[in-house]
Amino acid sequence: MVNSRSSSHLRGSATSKFCIKTSPVSITVYILFIFAFSFIIFTLYTREILNEEQKPFLLESEAGKIADDRLWGAPFSHGFHPCVEPTPAYKEPQGWDHYITVRSNGGLNQMRTGISDMVAVARIMNATLVIPQLDKRSFWRDSSVFSDLFDENHFITTLQGDVKIIKELPKELEIVPRARKHFTSWSGLNYYEDMTRLWKDYKVIHVAKSDARLANNNLPVDIQRLRCRALYYALRFSPSIENLGKKLVERLKSRGGRYIALHLRYEKDMLSFTGCTYGLTDGEAEELQIMRENMNHWKMKKINSTEQRLGGFCPLTPKEVGIFLQALGYPPSTLVYIAAGEIYGGSNHISELRSRFPNVIFKEMVAAPEELKLFTEHASQTAALDYIISVESDVFIPSYSGNMARSVEGHRRFLGHRKTITPDRKALVEFFDKIERGELEEGSLLSSIVKKMHKNRQGAPRKREGSLPGMKGRGRLRTEESFYENPFPECICSSKTHS
Ligand SMILES: *[C@@H]1O[C@H](CO)[C@@H](O)[C@H](O)[C@H]1NC(C)=O
Ligand SMILES: *[C@@H]1O[C@H](CO)[C@@H](O)[C@H](O)[C@H]1NC(C)=O
Repeated sequence: MVNSRSSSHLRGSATSKFCIKTSPVSITVYILFIFAFSFIIFTLYTREILNEEQKPFLLESEAGKIADDRLWGAPFSHGFHPCVEPTPAYKEPQGWDHYITVRSNGGLNQMRTGISDMVAVARIMNATLVIPQLDKRSFWRDSSVFSDLFDENHFITTLQGDVKIIKELPKELEIVPRARKHFTSWSGLNYYEDMTRLWKDYKVIHVAKSDARLANNNLPVDIQRLRCRALYYALRFSPSIENLGKKLVERLKSRGGRYIALHLRYEKDMLSFTGCTYGLTDGEAEELQIMRENMNHWKMKKINSTEQRLGGFCPLTPKEVGIFLQALGYPPSTLVYIAAGEIYGGSNHISELRSRFPNVIFKEMVAAPEELKLFTEHASQTAALDYIISVESDVFIPSYSGNMARSVEGHRRFLGHRKTITPDRKALVEFFDKIERGELEEGSLLSSIVKKMHKNRQGAPRKREGSLPGMKGRGRLRTEESFYENPFPECICSSKTHS
């Protein structure tokens, strides 16, 4: 170091002086000099120490900011924005005298995307759309009608430049025979244009199923943008749902500022359907097996749970989610909102997450019983609250893929690529098993592996993925990334492209 070298040099010259003159005055001067010199060295030295101490402190806050951003910040998406305006060639709908009636099927999000598709189908087929009926027979057995769940008038007026929508079929048409159709899944423009031949014989087409009837890709941009206008603008939840949803978001934010919405798909139906019994007791596994055997429309009856899990086809367990969040670096104080129905096994399984993240929050903890009373009998309305809370969260993490996970992820991409962390279940399970076998410990190594693994799984802007390689024929369509999971590029544009 420069200081120490110069100090020894000075000391050397002083020592030689001392040898020549030894008068009391010079000794005093010399002692004073030594004293002054030591003082200077001391101050310089301590300043250095202080600097050394301050530097890591500064670095820490800097590093803290980076770490904080890594945990909570949205992925880089500068210059991207929603684009849903029709092209100049787009025409007003005519007053068509053909009608489409729809029975939507599935849970909330399957119905929402299905209804948005039916808006597009009505447009392609030049038909007037009658407000769809909702599914009352699905697993969730919800008796809600369209206007319970959605703002019906808003739906009609928002889309008036696209499709004529009416609340009920005109009386005189209720008795005429309808063409009853199961449209082929993932059909394109040609298919629906071809279906207009039905108008020769029928005034009304009844669509028996609305989910996944329209292709993800290769549709005109005006049709794709219409799907986005329908889903993100027209299909607004009813005012009572919107209001409570907003309130709950505010309450969550006032608790901790930021929160993770965890779509913990650890519900009975999902575990039974997927045959995933890892971490369950024998009694629980048996109960789920019996449930699966009794469900007529669930085709897979015998499932090897171990193989399911190793293939990445099982929802993460509450314990696995806990290890995952911790490895990503979320501190134990993190607010984790559980966006889900009833967790299987209740507090038994939840405690395995809560032991790591004590601030696990259920909707019952942020809403008063009176507020939830209107919702409890209606699974779709409760799911709508979870949807709102999930879209508005700082970070959304689905423990399993599915309609809700896909819809929320797509909506968050659309609104500005809000952070959605999609666990790589197949890869994670391998490490979870290593921990279980004692071959790996939780800690910094696991953490760096998990962080690296999920660097590119946080919802950053990218084009929608096509089908899996090697897939041929219609099976290919099944493996495409869903339009509503990532409406890029049609409904998300970069500043460079025209909107
Ligand atoms: C729908 O109507 C428009 C305008 O009348 C017409 O150009 C178009 O060919 C019709 N589409 C179909 C599929 O019949
Ligand atoms: C399930 O699969 C695993 C791994 O392939 C295998 O070791 C196990 O024996 C299978 N269990 C049953 C009940 O078939």
